[in-house]
Amino acid sequence: MIESLTKSPAWQALKSHHSFIEQQHLRVLFAQDSQRFEKFSVRFGDLLLDFSKQRVTDETMKLLFQLATQQKLNDWIAQMFRGEKINSTENRAALHIALRAEQAVTTEGSDVLPAVKQVLQQMESFTKAVLHGEHRGYSDLPFTDVVNIGIGGSDLGPVMVTNALKPYWTGKMTPHFVSNIDGAHLAETLKSLNPATTLFVIASKTFTTQETIANAHAARTWFLAHGGTEKTIARHFVAVSTNREAVEQFGIDPANMFIFWDWVGGRYSLWSAIGLPIALTIGMQHFYDLLSGAREMDQHFLTTPLAKNLPVILGLIGVWQINFQGVTSHAILPYDQSLHRFPAYLQQLEMESNGKSVTRDGSSVDYSTGTVVWGESGTNGQHAFYQLLHQGTPTVTADFLAPCQSHYAVNHHHELLLANFFAQTEALMRGKSAEEVSAELLSQNYPLDEIKELTPHRVFAGNHTTTSILFKKLNPKTLGSLIALYEHKVFVQSVIWNINPFDQWGVELGKQLASKIVAELRSGQEETAHDASTNGLINYFKENRNL
Ligand code: F6P
Repeated sequence: MIESLTKSPAWQALKSHHSFIEQQHLRVLFAQDSQRFEKFSVRFGDLLLDFSKQRVTDETMKLLFQLATQQKLNDWIAQMFRGEKINSTENRAALHIALRAEQAVTTEGSDVLPAVKQVLQQMESFTKAVLHGEHRGYSDLPFTDVVNIGIGGSDLGPVMVTNALKPYWTGKMTPHFVSNIDGAHLAETLKSLNPATTLFVIASKTFTTQETIANAHAARTWFLAHGGTEKTIARHFVAVSTNREAVEQFGIDPANMFIFWDWVGGRYSLWSAIGLPIALTIGMQHFYDLLSGAREMDQHFLTTPLAKNLPVILGLIGVWQINFQGVTSHAILPYDQSLHRFPAYLQQLEMESNGKSVTRDGSSVDYSTGTVVWGESGTNGQHAFYQLLHQGTPTVTADFLAPCQSHYAVNHHHELLLANFFAQTEALMRGKSAEEVSAELLSQNYPLDEIKELTPHRVFAGNHTTTSILFKKLNPKTLGSLIALYEHKVFVQSVIWNINPFDQWGVELGKQLASKIVAELRSGQEETAHDASTNGLINYFKENRNL
């Protein structure tokens, strides 16, 4: 590896190329090349990735692929698929690809596939038993609701996927998700549920996460207070974890436990038993379809040359934006109501993975390693924050996503939705010049002095970059491919930036301080041990809390 990324030949070449291309308006790039869409779009199955509205030329792409080669991207991809311990700070492999594999995947000399298949089989049997009414609640009624208690990766994936795949729900089980330690989340969820027909899945990789354990205890108390007994807990509570001992300690019989492994990162875990609430909601066959979509993307990522490789292109476009064009904010804009939790899911995937500031060898980076990721489903966002995207000062980029076919045949809604998608990406790219604004106002008979006054307010600079992802229909397989696309995109960027995307030490400090502060909140003393602000906040809370 070259000592300093920013001084490396590929980086320097991109830097000088950028000083040329930053002068070019996207509108001009389109005018100059009628083949621009064909050149800068790629297809994968039912999925189309259009990056022609990114500030790129043939030369840009060539230089970005050179950067990928310089950073040995192909070697890193191979290392991941070979099960090498690429999560170096935790001394682990990162093998989410094994969770959807069909062929042997080896780490530390042994094939993990048999264990993966065994857990999938266990999930299948359990899901069938619940959905067919063989596994019943304490009063012999079939289960109707599943409450997943988990947070972060043990919540966001299942929440997003179950929402996205509503048309595939079997209708036998309604999923609910409790993540927040705010008691309101659990209390409001339980309010409408019948304990006799409610199944709880306690999902935690570590089984030590404060929020999850506290919510799980409270759920058990609620269950016991509403007709459940110590004996029937086993029927109503199952655990998904890597920590057998802690599960047992909590009081869940290990026979009711679904395991996964330390080589599955929390934010990469929806394919494991963490996906149990997904399977209980859409049925095991659809869960297998989700896995198959991801598996196809894995194979594509592993075997396709860089220039046609979707995750590689998406990742490199991000590097180009972040490190050369000064993009600090990335909006995820699904024009699909079912994907409304997709931005939240990607927030953890991207920001927890690449929110790092030291390289793999511990040296500080002198380049950005990510952006703020956020978003909202279209067209809601248009009536909220798009003003800033069009005429504001921050440099924001956006991914627009939409299905060509909707599951919901409501009048011409889908056409209207997609018209907005296309209009927004076009408007962001093209903008509207002062001449166009003046001509428009003139045609509407505005007086000249008013035209002069109004024109600057109505000008759109344009030249805002977007990436569009279209797919035929949002089904389990396509969704699997889409999620895996982003997972691998994040990995590509981590390789370019030479950082470890699979640890998350940055969340530890807050956790440590919180457990210390809990004890302080319980003492009657005035707090003086912190900085003045933290002391002041704690003391104000103590004075005003309801005891
Ligand atoms: O937020 C930190 C984190 O460790 C995430 O990486 C993880 O997804 C989440 O907490 C939940 O962890 P667990 O599944 O161990 O409860």
